Amino acid sequence: MAMDLVVIGLGHVGLPLSRAAVSAGLATAGYDVSGRVVSGLAAGRSHVGGVLDAEVAVMLDAGFRATTDPAVLDGAQTVVICVPTGLTPEGLPDLSAVEGAARVVAARLRPGMLVVLESTSYPGTTEDVLRPLLEHGSGLRAGEDFHLAYSPQRIDPGNETWSIGNTPKIVSGCSALCAKYAVAFYSRFVDHLVLARGTREAEMAKLLENTYRYVNMALVDEMALFCHETGIDVWDVLHCAATKPFGFAPFRPGPGVGGHCIPVDPRYLTARAASQGFAFRTLAAAHEVVGRMPNHVVDRALALLTEVRGRPEGARVLLLGITYKADVADVRETPAHPVAAGLLAAGAEVSYHDPYIAEFTVGGRSVPRAENLQEAMAQADVAILLQEHACYAREALGQARCALLDTRGQAVGSQVTLL
Ligand SMILES: NC(=O)c1ccc[n+]([C@@H]2O[C@H](COP(=O)([O-])OP(=O)(O)OC[C@H]3O[C@@H](n4cnc5c(N)ncnc54)[C@H](O)[C@@H]3O)[C@@H](O)[C@H]2O)c1
Repeated sequence: MAMDLVVIGLGHVGLPLSRAAVSAGLATAGYDVSGRVVSGLAAGRSHVGGVLDAEVAVMLDAGFRATTDPAVLDGAQTVVICVPTGLTPEGLPDLSAVEGAARVVAARLRPGMLVVLESTSYPGTTEDVLRPLLEHGSGLRAGEDFHLAYSPQRIDPGNETWSIGNTPKIVSGCSALCAKYAVAFYSRFVDHLVLARGTREAEMAKLLENTYRYVNMALVDEMALFCHETGIDVWDVLHCAATKPFGFAPFRPGPGVGGHCIPVDPRYLTARAASQGFAFRTLAAAHEVVGRMPNHVVDRALALLTEVRGRPEGARVLLLGITYKADVADVRETPAHPVAAGLLAAGAEVSYHDPYIAEFTVGGRSVPRAENLQEAMAQADVAILLQEHACYAREALGQARCALLDTRGQAVGSQVTLL
């Protein structure tokens, strides 16, 4: 059966998108190169936080299927590409997954098909990378034979207020007609669409959104570093400043910036700017500051361990919350990793508590997991609150018998040292 929609890449973006499309009544299938992802979904198991197994079951009942077979693309009306856009080992944009997906689509492209890229990338990706691969591989022309569009994804894992349906979505096309087809497609399950002038504007808008967060995180991180040097309580500063009802968007410092979007996307902007001879100075400064934070946490923890135990060697450190985001089961690029590595290198005995993560490996060493929070805190010399999961209630943390280094400004009590 020909599909209304085939989603390419069934990860944190592709699976929720498939769920939204299935709910709207679209005959939807997913194509992924990972046999593990596909067999898990076929067995009703979700690998994406925020999508429940029960929801996968509902999708399967409604006809959704996941496959590693590109034949599923045959006859599809719309194809949406949601593959990863990470970095090469040199820290440059890695578009290999987009290119791979483009070749698979090109081989099955048919006149009238709508192809949309949702992956985050630098301006020009749709026109200069995706379009030539699709056209050369199919012999068809975008804007004439098939429709090509870019629409960045704004999904916010763990956000219970804003979903795919009620978050305004930017849509753009390689021609006015391409954009019109993309608008018609998304309007079936997104309430409010924002038409960008062209694909480059839409691509850049996504980079601006995430870079805005990154730069502001760097600003408050540096504010925390300076306040520490000068004996000023940064959390009180932030509390006071955030009472301004206009012209101030609150951001909070932390042990570093994680995830596959916020620390990665600004690098796409930096690289694109550099390739065009433009030095994006704000970003260079932000990278430098954000990169300092895990070391700052390690230094603060080692000082605390020395105070409590005389020396860090053999001291017991408990990491509380190792995911990159609160109440989300995702450790990609988590700052807990460099923090744990720094503490282990200093000879500390590190364990962690996190209800969302069953295993944590650092430098090939498996970090022991504590099951019982209160017991683990009673046994530790120092606990470090790295992530503000809901289970870390302020009062419980404040009553801890061990010293607590709070990198999130959550806890109160005589044992608490703030970042
Ligand atoms: N995760 C988020 O919150 C978020 C939010 C907005 C935008 N984005 C962007 O969306 C894109 C996808 O991110 P994600 O978090 O869903 O990634 P992910 O790693 O969770 O999932 C990507 C999926 O694509 C599959 N894949 C990889 N190469 C493929 C190929 N050539 N063909 C088919 N499938 C392939 C992988 O097996 C994986 O299942 C990225 O560009 C990301 O920056 C992510």
